[in-house]
Amino acid sequence: EIKDIRTRKLLNSRGEETIEVEVDLGGVVGRFSSPSGASVGEHEAVALPEGGVDKSMDLIDNEVKPRLLGRDPTEQFEIDSLLKEIDGTENFSRLGSNASTAVSIATAKAAAKNEGMFLYEYISVLTGSNPSIPLPLGNIIEGGEHAGEGATEIQEFLTIPVNPPSGQQAVFANALVHHEVGRILSKEIPSFGGGKGDELGWVAPLTTEAALEILQKAIGKISDKVGFEIKTSLDVAASEMWDGSVYKYRRDNDRDTESQIEFITQLINDYDLYYVEDPLDENDFEGFSKLTKKIGDKSLICGDDIFTTNKERIQRGMEIGAANTVLIKPNQIGTLKDTLKAIEVAEKNNCYTAVSHRSGETTDSAIAHIAVACSEIIKTGAIGGERTAKLNELIRIEENGNIPVAITGD
Ligand code: PGA
Ligand code: ZN
Repeated sequence: EIKDIRTRKLLNSRGEETIEVEVDLGGVVGRFSSPSGASVGEHEAVALPEGGVDKSMDLIDNEVKPRLLGRDPTEQFEIDSLLKEIDGTENFSRLGSNASTAVSIATAKAAAKNEGMFLYEYISVLTGSNPSIPLPLGNIIEGGEHAGEGATEIQEFLTIPVNPPSGQQAVFANALVHHEVGRILSKEIPSFGGGKGDELGWVAPLTTEAALEILQKAIGKISDKVGFEIKTSLDVAASEMWDGSVYKYRRDNDRDTESQIEFITQLINDYDLYYVEDPLDENDFEGFSKLTKKIGDKSLICGDDIFTTNKERIQRGMEIGAANTVLIKPNQIGTLKDTLKAIEVAEKNNCYTAVSHRSGETTDSAIAHIAVACSEIIKTGAIGGERTAKLNELIRIEENGNIPVAITGD
């Protein structure tokens, strides 16, 4: 049973405050610290209440802890419902979703440990799913809200290995591409100073097309070296560019919805993009649907800000075919239960899911376990301490469980 719950304030990777929670079963402890976003979706749960981490810690001590002490930690779904009830709002604006997520995942970790299971095994039992090694999407070039004005307008230029023999080799392939792109940038851009963004992708003054050309060059070389294909991908984070009537481009003409759809289609065709996240504004379900229908199964069209890991929004999107892939960020919704529900709705509608880090991360590796338990893709950068914490955990899980790679074929 839960004997104690402790909280502390610590750093995330951007040097901001975040909350860590420990759920103590009397020696067996589960611990989780929450990440934070920079390009936060309008429909996400509220990460921190007014009063910040201190307020969340206060509420956990005074309202959550008294209700959870003595409870069986394997009652994950009941505990998650109770967290919602204690919060009492629609969007965790009182407790903060970073606090509720931390209590929720720390509880699952404690329970798993107590049962002698790895977290991914424990979650697989909760969901009835078969573990598989997700393909890693690595952030290679970074701009938008994750870097300064001089960077690319599109937030993330990513790579993903196709048909890798193992998760470990896939993880190293992304890191090799990252290194190679660094070499190309140093050679081709005299002013390049080796700077990196929040997720450790390179920051450089490039147009969208120039960034994609550099990626193509790098993946060509690294694919040959590793012996399997690597493809490019984008997170457009288009809500950040949408001003209510057009998508604003600093290095290019503004685009209305139609021409944005044209532009993305063109990029998919020209650069054989494997995956495109948030190509349109977070409220444009119709635009998403139009693009997804146009692209068919040629590429993964993924919704992040449009769905915000919210099962109702995902369901609404699924009814009109707004995407074929759903991004999953636990603190967008505030509990493990609702995170798993979101995955369930997506998978029921034949969508892939991608479990994702946030730009302001901690060194926790729980998302690797969630991804292995029930997703096909993990999006957690290519290099950097808080990113490699997850990628290295993936390698450990793969070795431990002899688990197959999630997506095979193109
Ligand atoms: P974040 O965004 O800054 O909100 O974590 C990353 C993303 O858009 O995927
Ligand atoms: Zn995104």
